[in-house]
Amino acid sequence: MQVQWDHVIRNGMIVTTDQIFQAHVYVKDGKIAAVTAEALGGTAREETDASGCYVLPGLIDVHVHSRDPGATHKEDFFHSTQAAAAGGITTIFEMPNTNPPLNNVENFHRQVKNLQEKAHVDFGIWAICLGHLNLRDIQALHEAGVIGFKFFWGYAVNSKTYQLVYNYKVGMEDVIPPFTDGEVLEIFREVAKTGQILAIHAESSDIIHHLTKQVERSGRRDYEAFLEARPNLAEVVTVQTGIAFAKHTGARLHILHVSTGEAVDLVKQAQAEGYPVTAETCPHYLFLSNEDYPRIGPAMKVYPTVKYKKDQERLWRGIAEGVVSVVCSDHAPHTEEEKDGDLWSIPAGMCGVETLAPLLLNAVHEKKLTLQQVVAVLSENPAKLFGIYPQKGSLQVGTDADITIVDMEKRYTINRENLRSKSKITAFDGFSGTGMPVATIVRGQTVMKDGVIIGSPVGRLVTPL
Ligand code: NCD
Ligand code: ZN
Ligand code: ZN
Repeated sequence: MQVQWDHVIRNGMIVTTDQIFQAHVYVKDGKIAAVTAEALGGTAREETDASGCYVLPGLIDVHVHSRDPGATHKEDFFHSTQAAAAGGITTIFEMPNTNPPLNNVENFHRQVKNLQEKAHVDFGIWAICLGHLNLRDIQALHEAGVIGFKFFWGYAVNSKTYQLVYNYKVGMEDVIPPFTDGEVLEIFREVAKTGQILAIHAESSDIIHHLTKQVERSGRRDYEAFLEARPNLAEVVTVQTGIAFAKHTGARLHILHVSTGEAVDLVKQAQAEGYPVTAETCPHYLFLSNEDYPRIGPAMKVYPTVKYKKDQERLWRGIAEGVVSVVCSDHAPHTEEEKDGDLWSIPAGMCGVETLAPLLLNAVHEKKLTLQQVVAVLSENPAKLFGIYPQKGSLQVGTDADITIVDMEKRYTINRENLRSKSKITAFDGFSGTGMPVATIVRGQTVMKDGVIIGSPVGRLVTPL
């Protein structure tokens, strides 16, 4: 009997972290059945001609805030996963600052159902650490299948909704102030017991409050003043404490959205000493600096703040050295109205999941990294770090047929109006580059082709093996 393949992807250049070669990819039952230069027999339900294009293991964005449920006036999972598919991403990890937050097993199961209906790509789910409020839920969340534990170090949260408070002032009502170091140590202890990743937002609220008061007294409101109030030091002291806590407790520490050169040095040192400390960064820290604020304006407000050229340079070197092993979007949309205001009072965050891969592909043309390094930081490394490799992050036979096809010669201009997200705030509006995902394939099914979203939501939950 003739084999019937689900999908055959012909004539592409396969890119893995160690090889580039021409081959066809054969998919059966949602899995990769063969990667071979030979033409196998049989019929194919779907065929994709990848001539002239590169075939990458499906790209993963480990840091997405779809705000679903909770702030779905800003974004929801239907839109964010369409944006992901459009941007060549086959799996996203959904952040837990939803309402209700992802703080216990009941909310985890509810969230799986909620997201599944809307998911155009596969997804993992982060759990939130709320100190003493959910220390007792950590182990059960681990067993339920969360992708990792997230701690928003330095943020105050609303005491009723647990939503992040973006511009916290001491004495605000209905707010749980940022946790003390002692309380944070308990979080490290509890997560260490699970063996899973503890990922931290790393900004010191103490430093920020102190400096904000000083800068406010001076009356300055510009971006440089803002950076003085939320400086490199705020990240540095938190990363330093985090690494000390990780050494003390044995927690596997992942530093989210690293924005400073100093933090790269700290992570590098901890890695050299043999500790399981990892780091990610985002396009806004790699491509922007304080010098871009006058041109971009409030769309550029994000926490941690976008810093200086010297930080940008150190981050690129961190990627080259393998110290920064993951690049992600920190997709965090807010509405235009919310972002339209004074730098100091608007919320922090911007869209990113759709522009992540195009921006990095253009950086390949600029010789900032190679296509194989793109595969490393957007696919293989995240999959390995979060325990879902080789099911995700590889093109090995028997694993999920998640594939991103890219045309390295395709020109693009980012136009905010065309973003798939519900709120269309981007710091990269008008940016032109070369290198675009032209097809996104999730477990063999095409979810995006030539920029068009295809089919109904097929995404499923991904859990560590
Ligand atoms: C994120 C958000 O709005 O959810 N904002 C941001 O500026 N990055 C939260 C976060 O990741 O810190
Ligand atoms: Zn954060
Ligand atoms: Zn974030």
